[in-house]
Amino acid sequence: MYKILLKEDLVPGIHLFRVEAPAVARKAKAGQFVVVRIDEKGERIPLTIADWDEQEGSITIVFMEVGTTTAKLALLDAGDSIANFTGPLGLPAHIEKFGAVVCVAGGVGAAPIAPIARALKGQGNKIISILGARSQSLLFWEERLRRFSDRLIVTTDDGSYGRKGVVTVPLKELLESGEKVDRVIAIGPGVMMKFCAQTTKPFGVKTIVSLNPIMVEGTGMCGCCRVSVGGVTRFACVDGPDFDGHQVDWELLKARQCIYLDEELRSLKEWQCRAH
Ligand SMILES: Cc1cc2nc3c(=O)[nH]c(=O)nc-3n(C[C@H](O)[C@H](O)[C@H](O)COP(=O)(O)OP(=O)(O)OC[C@H]3O[C@@H](n4cnc5c(N)ncnc54)[C@H](O)[C@@H]3O)c2cc1C
Ligand code: FES
Repeated sequence: MYKILLKEDLVPGIHLFRVEAPAVARKAKAGQFVVVRIDEKGERIPLTIADWDEQEGSITIVFMEVGTTTAKLALLDAGDSIANFTGPLGLPAHIEKFGAVVCVAGGVGAAPIAPIARALKGQGNKIISILGARSQSLLFWEERLRRFSDRLIVTTDDGSYGRKGVVTVPLKELLESGEKVDRVIAIGPGVMMKFCAQTTKPFGVKTIVSLNPIMVEGTGMCGCCRVSVGGVTRFACVDGPDFDGHQVDWELLKARQCIYLDEELRSLKEWQCRAH
């Protein structure tokens, strides 16, 4: 069992757990994820390693409530335990000195991008971060991201904080301004990563996205996380989750993410009925 050492409700519907998992913490690298199963009957869900502390033997995860498992997870508290916490899984993010890197995070994507920005900064890159959310009340880790960034631009869709609009607006402006950008990394909802990739394509700037297909075991055995990149079938759990955003078949990703929508909705309704 994996004990929850700390729980923080970051913003409504987004929670942070620090979980005791020394074996995972010893090997964790930026960009990797864990597969979590709450109890023996629970489904497995992938969550990115948002931070780790080798000395304490802990892993930090940040998750958004979107369905049954994340809603159940949100009910746990510090002192409770999780049955399975497997990882680190997936390939670590590619970290080297690229020059100037723009890190774009949308919504809960602020958590997975933070260790990547930190690692890239550690390699001497100039980091320009763009952090976006629907509204100020859903923004988190602004100060944390600022620590690893030479410059931070915040956007909210409704204009309640920072610049009004979506993250692709300042991204396009940066590229048009002639600012030297050697690489863009975008993490967030599929549609946001797709539009980031579309924005950078005409400028020829390599753009890495972290794909989030449905996963089961996360070790390349079930084929559930199949994605198409550059016309080639890849498994996001072992070949990714990071891929070249200009090569991703976004329509296939979206279609596969919705395969179990009816079952997911039914599962959530049944669980809500039982819980109340
Ligand atoms: C490598 C990887 C890392 C991830 N890291 C994080 C993270 O750090 N924090 C976080 O909050 N989420 C993360 N996700 C997404 C997370 O795994 C899903 O939100 C979770 O599996 C949903 O489970 P559920 O039972 O609560 O919802 P479900 O009932 O399974 O789904 C509810 C709704 O969410 C959508 N959904 C389901 N799975 C995904 C998915 N993988 N991506 C986007 N939408 C999905 C469904 O289409 C449906 O509309 C990651 C996904 C991957 C593949
Ligand atoms: S999750 Fe099963 S192959 Fe990737």
